[in-house]
This record gives sequence, structure tokens and C-alpha cells, in this order.
Amino acid sequence: MSKIISLAKRRGFIFQSSEIYGGFGSCYDFGPLGVEMKNNIKKAWWDEMIKNHENIVGLDAAILMSPKVWQASGHLTAGFADELVECKSCHKRFRADEIKSQKCPECSGPLMTPRKFNLMIKSFVGPLEDEAATTYLRAETCQGIYVNFENILNSMRLKIPFGIAQIGKAFRNEITPGDFIFRTREFEQMELQWFCHPKDAKRYFDFWQKERLKWYLNLGIKKENLRIKEVPEKEQPHYAKQALDLEYKFPFGWKEIEGIHNRGDWDLSNHSKYSGKDLRYFDEETKERYFPYIIETSGGADRSFLVFLCDAFQEVKGGRTKTTKAVKEIEILLKLHKDVAPIKVAVLPLVRNKPELVKKAKEVYQLLKPHFVCQYDELGSIGRRYRRQDEVGTTLCLTCDFETLKDETLTIRYRDTMKQERVKISDLINILKEKLNV
Ligand code: GAP
Repeated sequence: MSKIISLAKRRGFIFQSSEIYGGFGSCYDFGPLGVEMKNNIKKAWWDEMIKNHENIVGLDAAILMSPKVWQASGHLTAGFADELVECKSCHKRFRADEIKSQKCPECSGPLMTPRKFNLMIKSFVGPLEDEAATTYLRAETCQGIYVNFENILNSMRLKIPFGIAQIGKAFRNEITPGDFIFRTREFEQMELQWFCHPKDAKRYFDFWQKERLKWYLNLGIKKENLRIKEVPEKEQPHYAKQALDLEYKFPFGWKEIEGIHNRGDWDLSNHSKYSGKDLRYFDEETKERYFPYIIETSGGADRSFLVFLCDAFQEVKGGRTKTTKAVKEIEILLKLHKDVAPIKVAVLPLVRNKPELVKKAKEVYQLLKPHFVCQYDELGSIGRRYRRQDEVGTTLCLTCDFETLKDETLTIRYRDTMKQERVKISDLINILKEKLNV
């Protein structure tokens, strides 16, 4: 894991938040390559929901909501709390479910009896910091969907079954954040809420778990690193009738990357009760009025990011090219799916001391830049530059060589096979659009 973290920092994927001040509470910043990659992940999820499925619409709700939302949802009560144990000697705090013995893992001191610790992050709006001004940073994005259920139903003239998809920030005061960006206090969720008739809930619960598994597989995640785990009843979230976790085999073990929940009518019935607004659905055909059941797929953009990074990371001892120099080196290869890779194309002049070659390569770069996320690189030997691109998962490298100057062609090099083919510059945009599927 330390090699992945170090690559992420060295190559501009992920930095610790407020690093010059010693970092801040397990928060992270996504650097130039990180933000491209995270945007690609979110786009792949959004396209999957909005384009590849019927009857799903989007939403971008505010992070700050009425505190009543969180009373109704059950997040301010025991439902949304982790068991915490504190060490009597060093006063460090741990999640009770992560403690294997009666002793403090840090100093072996005695532990206090576990108590509940609410994970909501409190804030204030307006000039007075009193009870009336108290608000919370949302702990799950889906509550913004439930409180807009009626608005969306009416404005979009939808009929059950339908879905509402949303991507956005969520915040939790985690007791033990850690494992890099796996568990942080600020993170992004990608959530689908699927509203259906209660009698269809079981069918859709099964349907959506299969769809979500397929999404990761289609984006190149290895099958053997994914599994589905039924969550035992006593460990299920307070709102769930049935829950399962999609898990990934991280270097630090099998861990949840996405939750699939049958939330029943928990949310809509509670919001009806607390707001006084009847949020039941009326079926014009059957004349039935009922609370739809909600099947939710709740993934994390940051956690998926870590999945893509871990799954793609490879170290090739001795390097992939068999030149004497390379055999001594460890080469890093990031085998990211083309839709996820932060840089799609790198343009490289074969050498930098031939002005005509450099000029040509820069022209090609300018030609491609409006169409693809591109990089231009002329520093170091061509082999070293290929390796620099392989290390960040760049899908294709284009090299302008001496033949380019004669016949307006260049080579396309494929990251995973290192195979090269020669194409005409005039055909380049169409060829790349086809290869990259954009
Ligand atoms: N709306 C349901 C819900 O929030 P969850 O299982 O608590 O369910 C869903 O969270 C997903 O959100 C997790 O599978 C994970 O991908 C992401 N997530 C939750 N807490 C996180 C944290 N502290 N850091 C990073 N990602 C987190």
C-alpha cells in the first residue's frame, strides 16, 4: 500500500490536505491527475445511471439542509453512531468493532466500557451560534433525494418504478479514519435511489446488486478481487430491511466499497411524519396510494478511486523492455481502463534536439488538446518518457520521429502491450476517438 500512496503523491494524484500545516484530520486533496481520474469515475457512474438505464433522473441537492431532515432520518439518534472505546491511560479512542482485546492497541492500558458516538458533523448557519442556528453537514447524500421526492415526481411526470441519481460530498466524524482515502471524514458518494412498489423490492434488490457488480467489472476491475457479502441483521444500518456490501480485496484486506440496501419505506414515511407532508405515491391505474420502497446503491467516489488505483497498480521487476539498463529497474505500470485513465494521450518527439521534430510534436499536441486530455513531454530518453506515462496509466503514447518529417505519419504505442502502429496525422483524431471511445 505504501508504494501506491507514494506514487499517488509523487505523480500528482492525491495530496494530504493542509500538508504544509502538518495535515488535517484524514482529509485529502486530489491533484491534477487525481481530479481528472475522479471526474472520469464520476462520469462513468453518471453515464451508467442516466444513459444506460431507463427511468433514472439526476439531482444535485444542497449539502446543508434543515436539521429536521436528520431527526426524521434517524441520524441524530443512536441509529447513526459507532461504538467507541477510550483508553484510560493515553485517552486514545477506537471503534469498538476494531478492538480485538481488552487492552489499548497503542499503550496496552485498560479500556473504558464502550459508548455510542454520533458521527454527524455539527455546524452553525447565520451570525448566532445557538441551538436555533445548528445545522449538520450531510452524512449521506440520499436524504437530499428523499426530501425532493415529490418535486421530482411532479416536475418530471415520473411513474413508479424510477430512480434518482446523485453524486456529492458527504461528511462523517469517523472515530478511526485511515487506510489512505478508504475512510475519511470528507468524501464523495455516488448514490442511486430506486423507488418501486413494495412487492417488487426483492426483485430490484437482486437486479441492482448484479448491475453494480457489472459496472466495476466492465471498467476492468479483476473478478477475483470483488465479492458480495450479505450484512447480518444486527450489523445492518438503522434504515435497512436488507443490506449487502460489495467488497474489494484491498492490500489491507476485504472491505466494503458499496452498500446495496432495501430501505423499505423508512425514509419516505418518516419524512411524511416529521414534515406533515403526505409523500405517498398515487397510482392512477390501480388507484392505490402507498409509500414506495427504496432500493439504494450507495458507492463512494473516493473509495472507487482507491479500488481502481490498487487494481491497476503493477510492479514489473527488471522492467518490460529487455535493454541492459532496464533490467536493473523496477517499472511501475498503472493498467487503468481507458475511461478511467487521467491522461488519454501523450505526445512525444523522439528526441528534443531536433527543432523540426519538436515543432511537429507540438503541432500534433495542439491539434489533439481540444479533443482529449493530453500531455506533451520532451524531457529524457524516449524509453524513460514511455515509462513515465505507463506509471500514471496514460492509454496511448504518440511519437513523432524522423519518418514523421518525411510522410506526416507518427506511431501510436499501446501502454499494456507496448505494440506500436504507424498512422497518418490527418487521420489521427478519428482513429483516437474510435480507440478511446469518446
Ligand atoms: N446512503 C447509504 C450510505 O451512506 P454507507 O454504507 O454508510 O451507506 C456508502 O456508505 C458508501 O459510501 C460506502 O460503501 C463507501 O464507499 C462510502 N463511504 C462511507 N463512509 C465513508 C468514509 N468515511 N470515507 C470514504 N468513503 C465512505
